[in-house]
Amino acid sequence: MPAITATAPGKAILFGEHAVVYGQPAIAVPVTQVKARAIVSPQPDRPRGWVGVQAPDIGLEKTLLDLPEDDPLSRVIGGVLEVTAIPQPPACTIRITSTIPIAAGLGSGAAISVAIIRAFSEFLGRPLHDEQVSNLTFEVEKLHHGTPSGIDNTVITYETPIYFAKTSTDAGNQFVILKVARPFTLVIGDSGVSSPTALTVGDVRQAWLENSEFFEELFVRTGDLVKHARQALEKGDIQVLGQLMDENQALLEKMGVSSAELDRLIQAARQAGAYGAKLSGGGRGGNMIALVPDSAAGEVAEALFTAGATSTLVTIIRS
Ligand code: PMV
Repeated sequence: MPAITATAPGKAILFGEHAVVYGQPAIAVPVTQVKARAIVSPQPDRPRGWVGVQAPDIGLEKTLLDLPEDDPLSRVIGGVLEVTAIPQPPACTIRITSTIPIAAGLGSGAAISVAIIRAFSEFLGRPLHDEQVSNLTFEVEKLHHGTPSGIDNTVITYETPIYFAKTSTDAGNQFVILKVARPFTLVIGDSGVSSPTALTVGDVRQAWLENSEFFEELFVRTGDLVKHARQALEKGDIQVLGQLMDENQALLEKMGVSSAELDRLIQAARQAGAYGAKLSGGGRGGNMIALVPDSAAGEVAEALFTAGATSTLVTIIRS
């Protein structure tokens, strides 16, 4: 039995984070420069049912049985055993590594789940299809951040730009694959501030409960902007997309999820020639994105470093 490897990309939310949790549409793209990887290797000397779990990036080396039941890794591996109906798998080790920054708005948790589900289900001889991969990842995402919209598991599973609209509490079939008329360049800058999505999502929920009229209006305005952005993407209207990113950032600031560090990076990107810039993901830290003319990518990345970014990535988005 050979070892099986699977990878999954990071992601960036182009438009609509937070409002998407409340039923508004959002747009997300895969970021293929960073990846989570899972390798499942047989352990013929161990008894059937033995599963070792190694995540050297976080110093973890345990067996499945030793992991707490509510640990996301335990849930994802247990979920595969359940869906494939193989309670006693051949003995194996699942090794997980990732170059996606953790708690930075790039979807590291969902990418790790997708990579494990793909590699482990194939190892078991029952490779899951995309919708199953996405649904199981969604279940695990609930452990990470309570009330996920489902956008992360979807864009990372399908690895293509998506227009996502949550229509129910189910994860499946809530998106369309976007036709991007013209490839465009994003510079992604890491503020270096770790910000778990569960916290910002919880804070927005609290603020929405206290001031629902104000927040509902912000969410609806975000949704309208996302619909407009979809048209601009499908027409290849890059400059309009940039303006819409700036408008989305203004709404996110009103929701209270930006931060001084993010504002500084966003400002620096705009001054260095970006068409537009905004935070991406949960906010308060993590990453921001800037839409740039191809020729300005280096200059914008440089400006982001000067303004305090701890790392930058340049990625080209296409259909
Ligand atoms: O921080 P991330 O990459 O997990 O993105 C979260 C996006 C939110 O809209 C804030 C939450 C969600 O589940 O959609």
